[in-house]
Amino acid sequence: MNAVTARTPALASRLPRVGTTIFTVMSALATQHGAVNLGQGFPDFDCDPALLDAVNQAMRSGLNQYPPMAGVPVLRDAVARKIEALYGHRYDPGDEITITAGATQAILTAILASVHPGDEVIVLEPCYDSYAPNIELAGGRVVRVALAAGTFRPDFAAIDAAITRRTRAIIVNTPHNPSATVWSHADLDRLAALLRPTDVLLIADEVYEHMVFDGVAHASASSHPELAARAFAVSSFGKTYHVTGWKVGYVAAPRELTAEFRKVHQFNVFTVNTPVQHGLARYMADPRPYMELAAFYQRKRDLFRAGLARTRLRLLPSEGTYFQCVDYSAISDRSEEDFCRWLTTDIGVAAIPLSAFYEDGRNQQLARFCFAKRDETLTTALERLARL
Ligand SMILES: Cc1ncc(COP(=O)(O)O)c(C=O)c1O
Repeated sequence: MNAVTARTPALASRLPRVGTTIFTVMSALATQHGAVNLGQGFPDFDCDPALLDAVNQAMRSGLNQYPPMAGVPVLRDAVARKIEALYGHRYDPGDEITITAGATQAILTAILASVHPGDEVIVLEPCYDSYAPNIELAGGRVVRVALAAGTFRPDFAAIDAAITRRTRAIIVNTPHNPSATVWSHADLDRLAALLRPTDVLLIADEVYEHMVFDGVAHASASSHPELAARAFAVSSFGKTYHVTGWKVGYVAAPRELTAEFRKVHQFNVFTVNTPVQHGLARYMADPRPYMELAAFYQRKRDLFRAGLARTRLRLLPSEGTYFQCVDYSAISDRSEEDFCRWLTTDIGVAAIPLSAFYEDGRNQQLARFCFAKRDETLTTALERLARL
């Protein structure tokens, strides 16, 4: 008998340029060197016990089987009510709201549902790292437009110049990770004017919608009737309720867009965790947790900024999200990645280089910290950063 050799066939990668992300690298380095990890964006504190109770109760009462494909009706109702109360737009929870496995799956699904091979999708750099691979998986072409250097404001002339007959969608993220800037209603008006003569869709990544500071209101695509008519508005319970590991989010979109979205959703996740959906629906009955979130994070931002102001780091504005960017050019001329590695190994605080959010890895001597941390964690980090 001939010996059979097991052989794993070679695979041509669908995403040949994707490797280990800097987030994983910096977190591993932080653990290895006992550094305070202000790199990856998630809280180091727990969620409200009332939310855990609500999910627990749902599990114990037998809500553990497949929910309806689009999400449990009570949660879709709660989301529709919240959007109407905050942004003045009534989505039909039956046909226009879908519960997703986090914002990440919502964005991928919106792209797979709308982008055909050869279509172009505009992303505004720096941007969240899933957008470009998502577009490539759909066979689309990523068109990168830089936010203005220094201010990270949208450059509408550059966006206008990037729109072609092939443009299928533009992805806008406000409040913005990593720059912590927010779009104004005037920005939405300018975008609407650019998109008016086109069939370009808007994918609005609004996962930090409840973290806008200094009394400013979040400018949601849902609040702008013209944009809402062409938008997938995406949000995430993970960010809002300090449960990033639960991976539950939602997308609100006009019924024609939702119908196509659900065709793809049906065959990539089909449904999302039943008891968590019921728990979230019950917890959402009280608007205070999300209405008070901005004040909660603004206080942490101010604590963190007050400490950083005593160093040679130059603080960029933090208008929203739970991120704070700093310019370290007065301290070092190292590249961003080298500086962040040094900060982790020698100073004991992990940060993320802004270059990680650009395709060309450009170096602007900027780093991003996450302040979604207990006050003690922030204080320890600030004691270490005081050496700078
Ligand atoms: C801009 C942005 N979009 C989407 C996500 C992903 O959200 P989720 O965890 O709900 O998938 C994140 C998480 O860091 C983010 O920063």
